[in-house]
Amino acid sequence: MSNIAVVPGSFDPVTLGHLDVIQRTANVFDEVHVLVVHNPDKNAMIPIARRLELIEQALLETGAPRNIVVRSWSVGLLVDYCTDVGAGVIVKGVRGAKDVDYETPMAIVNRNLARIETMFMMPNPQHAHVSSSLVRQVASLGGDVSPYVPEVVREFLQGDTDPNISV
Ligand code: PNS
Repeated sequence: MSNIAVVPGSFDPVTLGHLDVIQRTANVFDEVHVLVVHNPDKNAMIPIARRLELIEQALLETGAPRNIVVRSWSVGLLVDYCTDVGAGVIVKGVRGAKDVDYETPMAIVNRNLARIETMFMMPNPQHAHVSSSLVRQVASLGGDVSPYVPEVVREFLQGDTDPNISV
């Protein structure tokens, strides 16, 4: 049995809800791989390399446990990454029935493809209404996203960041 879990997602951008699920997963598994994956069904706002940096910085900011690594994957199926690193479990955060409906077909396909199990993690209800798409919309219209995202993401979205830092 594997003690490595993969928490995949678009993370465009990472939210406090994502971080909550990542931290809870790190309490259960020996090793957690946060995997930034391109979702062809979504129009991405932030380049993948920058999303990865934002997650790493947010984890540092929140004093996350050391058993978390952050990676990206763009060359094949999610289950190929899981098999490569010896992970037997995918963990997805679900905020409610709508998320379960969205995640269930992917969970079944991933199990059929490579016997990788998916486990659903309930985030803190405080984050139940938070989504990356909502954050993108509020930020693009000039609203305050600080209740929903870590400070580094707020700075990035609201332009308080050093212009010399690469994106
Ligand atoms: O945060 P998202 O956008 O809901 O994450 C969805 C994601 C990226 C995890 C999903 O689209 C995915 O696993 N893509 C990788 C391609 C793949 O393996 N597809 C087949 C199984 S669903």
